[in-house]
Amino acid sequence: MSYKFIQMSDPQLGFYASRHPGVTGIDYEIEHLSKAVSLTNKINPDFVITTGDLTQDRLDSEQARIVKELYSKLNCKYYFASGNADLTNSPQFEDIERYRKRFGPDFYSFNHSNSQFIILNSTVLFDPSQIPGEDINQIQFLTNELESGRKNNSQHQMIFMHHPLFGSQPDEEDSEKVLPKTQRYQILDLLEKYNVTAVFTGHWHSNNIVQYKNTRLITSGPITFGLGEDPSGIRIIEINNQQINHEYIPL
Ligand SMILES: [Fe+2]
Repeated sequence: MSYKFIQMSDPQLGFYASRHPGVTGIDYEIEHLSKAVSLTNKINPDFVITTGDLTQDRLDSEQARIVKELYSKLNCKYYFASGNADLTNSPQFEDIERYRKRFGPDFYSFNHSNSQFIILNSTVLFDPSQIPGEDINQIQFLTNELESGRKNNSQHQMIFMHHPLFGSQPDEEDSEKVLPKTQRYQILDLLEKYNVTAVFTGHWHSNNIVQYKNTRLITSGPITFGLGEDPSGIRIIEINNQQINHEYIPL
């Protein structure tokens, strides 16, 4: 079975202006997201998954409306994961509810061509202090999903979320850039136990690829404003039976 899909990350409408004094509005993001959409339509993938930070200001409903309008121009199915900018770094229930009303469920899974795709809300894992127990629920959800994927003989199990697990070493210190060790180690154990193919993340606005046991941890640059050396871009992932190939394509 072969198929291809696209990962996009951090459209984050309003982020460019937040980093450039004197600039207002979301023209930068509209231009780049529109380019990403037309490039994707040319590639004609089976679907697109976006790994969070859909908007810069979660209280700005106009940003949310426009990001949805731009995505609706895709010729294929598309799936969203939430990011910290969509919820705040320490989300409350009302933040999660607002996100769900706009964009749909914040954690869920689907199957495609004998592969399983699991979408998580990593901000809940990053700081559950205002929503006690939600991190535990989410880890339980992940465990149940991985177990059912295994029972269904999924050829690949893949996870999509906003925050990377780590940048270079599994035991590196907690920081704003990665999931804290408490939650990180639980997920790393599950990756190993279920032989997860790959984890796709964003949040850094630059590319970073590391390996944990048999799992590829792929952090992709943004479709809008980059913070590293990488240009804005999208990642195309091609699955051909056991093989997985992926490439970051600048816009
Ligand atoms: Fe982020």
